[in-house]
Amino acid sequence: MRLELPLRAERFGANLFYHSQKLFEIDGGYEFDSKFASPFHVIQQITRERLYEIERDMAIVIPIKNERLRLLEGVLCGIPHDCLPIIVSNSRQEPVDRFRMECNMIDSFCRYAKKKYISIHQRSPEMARIFENGGYHDILDDEGLVREGKAEGMLAGIVLANLLGKRYVGFIDSDNYFPGAVFEYARLFSAGLSQAKSPFSMARIQWHSKPKIVDSDLFFAKWGRVSRITNQYLNQFLSYYSGYETDALCTGNAGEHAMSMPLALLLDYSAGFSVEAYHFVSLLEKFGGVLPSPFPEATKSGIEVFQMESRNPHLHVVNKGDAHIREMIHHSLAVLFHSEICPVRLKKEILRELRRRKIVGKDDVLLAPRKYPALRGMDFDTASKMTDWALLGNFIPV
Ligand code: GDP
Ligand code: CO
Repeated sequence: MRLELPLRAERFGANLFYHSQKLFEIDGGYEFDSKFASPFHVIQQITRERLYEIERDMAIVIPIKNERLRLLEGVLCGIPHDCLPIIVSNSRQEPVDRFRMECNMIDSFCRYAKKKYISIHQRSPEMARIFENGGYHDILDDEGLVREGKAEGMLAGIVLANLLGKRYVGFIDSDNYFPGAVFEYARLFSAGLSQAKSPFSMARIQWHSKPKIVDSDLFFAKWGRVSRITNQYLNQFLSYYSGYETDALCTGNAGEHAMSMPLALLLDYSAGFSVEAYHFVSLLEKFGGVLPSPFPEATKSGIEVFQMESRNPHLHVVNKGDAHIREMIHHSLAVLFHSEICPVRLKKEILRELRRRKIVGKDDVLLAPRKYPALRGMDFDTASKMTDWALLGNFIPV
């Protein structure tokens, strides 16, 4: 891959938020071009060895809830062979068992391709037992099962990836129409993470464009309706602390992102669709230097967040309705609003924004999404000893 160097960064305590990096060539060539060894360049070539080294150690979690099987098959097709797909489903099991249909499709696909995989229903007793055995009860509901929600599915994915000894974990939505885009995201994950000097790193995808039909023609929008707003307020958050206006953050709602496992286990998570925006809040709270850090060793190493601009247009299922968009805006801003370190001025602006859009009423309060503590507190050894992997797909850990 040939990629712009991460030249500019915004620092917030121990966090380094790199500005978005432009991609020049998805495939950077077989040989390393020695001209890149000179210090006078702004592009880097990341060798294929380096990319594969990371992909071999990376699981890609694919959350799915009632999506079309064809889309999921396309997503599987785009995942590089060396990455382990972990499909975490919250699809209907009644009256038609969509989960069973997904499992059948995934199993035949992966058997034909000789690809290892894990697939699990997030509300299955097996998944609940893993959290239960690890002593991580926050995620279980009154029935003793993992709660509903996308973030909850992602947490299940991180736990499985860690139990399988993966050193990186990425996330790609299952409703993507283009296998080529999926492939590019996975490559950008490995390229992004390969740049990290710290063991605590994250790579987030900024979509280059999102195609829409406007007046019977294609229009390539740069910003989604939700991300435009989330990014604006995240940047304001940074600006209020630094005293300098910034536009560094552009991936507030990046469903497509990847983390090194040490970082994935340190962050707190927020429920449902607020999870991606909350990554930033958790980073600012834990490593921003405003509050004492619960993890001094990570604070010492620093946290690196790379934002990578993809080149494929991002086309996913778009008819999920206006209510879904409004819910996403509400959730994303609510996690900023409820942060202990959110400046009062910003709280007022967020409230004004949500009232102006009639997302919250004049006398309503903002919802406070449920929080999940860092997974590092979980007892993975016990959970691992008691997991029967044969039930979970075509992957038997050694
Ligand atoms: P958007 O793309 O951000 O508008 O959100 P989507 O509704 O497309 O959801 C993102 C991804 O998460 C899709 O692949 C969904 O199928 C999946 N998803 C949504 N809700 C859940 C859930 O409760 N559990 C799991 N495991 N996946 C979910
Ligand atoms: Co989607």
